[in-house]
Amino acid sequence: TTGPLVVAVDGPAGSGKSSVSKAVARRLGFAYLDTGAAYRAFAWHAQHSGVELEDQASVVAALPTFDLAEATDPDHFTVRVGEHDVTAAIREPAVTGVVSLVARVPEVRAALTGIFRRLAAGTDKPGIVIEGRDITTVVAPDAPVRVLLTASEEVRMGRRSAELTGHSPEAVGEQLKARDRADSRVVDFMTAADGVTTVDSTELDFDETVDAVIAVIQSRTHSLR
Ligand code: CDP
Ligand code: CDP
Repeated sequence: TTGPLVVAVDGPAGSGKSSVSKAVARRLGFAYLDTGAAYRAFAWHAQHSGVELEDQASVVAALPTFDLAEATDPDHFTVRVGEHDVTAAIREPAVTGVVSLVARVPEVRAALTGIFRRLAAGTDKPGIVIEGRDITTVVAPDAPVRVLLTASEEVRMGRRSAELTGHSPEAVGEQLKARDRADSRVVDFMTAADGVTTVDSTELDFDETVDAVIAVIQSRTHSLR
């Protein structure tokens, strides 16, 4: 049995992973899985379960009650935790500021990795684009297409502050840098692992970046035939 074609995309915050992966999935008729959204949803759940976020054992204790429903349709993206639609809440600074604390916990990573693999195997689409930090290395190291999306720190911070109007660019930049620092202690998403193709979007606009990722997919799938 052949499952969906898995396209694994990793990269730091603001590199364009989510928006580019979503557009690639749309163009190819593939499913789309935002793994960062699941980490954010678990951080939201832990916060609402009275968990002491600095205490890893306490964070682990919130796993059995984590009831995640994440859509994999690039046109209708929603995330639910139990009865709550958290699609908007997980983008708030309150969640962004603590997500690294839960993402560093090995039991959390193992549990979410299992969820991602089941979601990917369960799609009825011909392929799925999965994006995050450890997709090319841990979640789907055997994926036929693996991409590291990068961009200079200056460009990444600029893109992020353009999105978050009403927040000072300095504060957005500092939070982004602190989060990348914390995250990169747990997984390396700044260097391409063996066999991973780097797409540097520093000098590319959005459409050019989507085209570049599609070109990688085409060249990889041609060489498989
Ligand atoms: O979109 P952005 O780059 O701001 O972040 P995200 O992809 O939504 O990921 C949010 C957080 O989840 C990251 O800062 C990591 O702490 C964590 N994460 C992770 O540890 N592993 C992944 N595969 C994806 C996200
Ligand atoms: O998911 P990640 O944090 O890696 O980035 P994103 O949220 O997908 O992208 C951040 C912003 O950069 C979005 O508003 C994208 O439209 C924009 N972007 C861009 O302007 N040029 C690119 N080549 C890629 C993304």
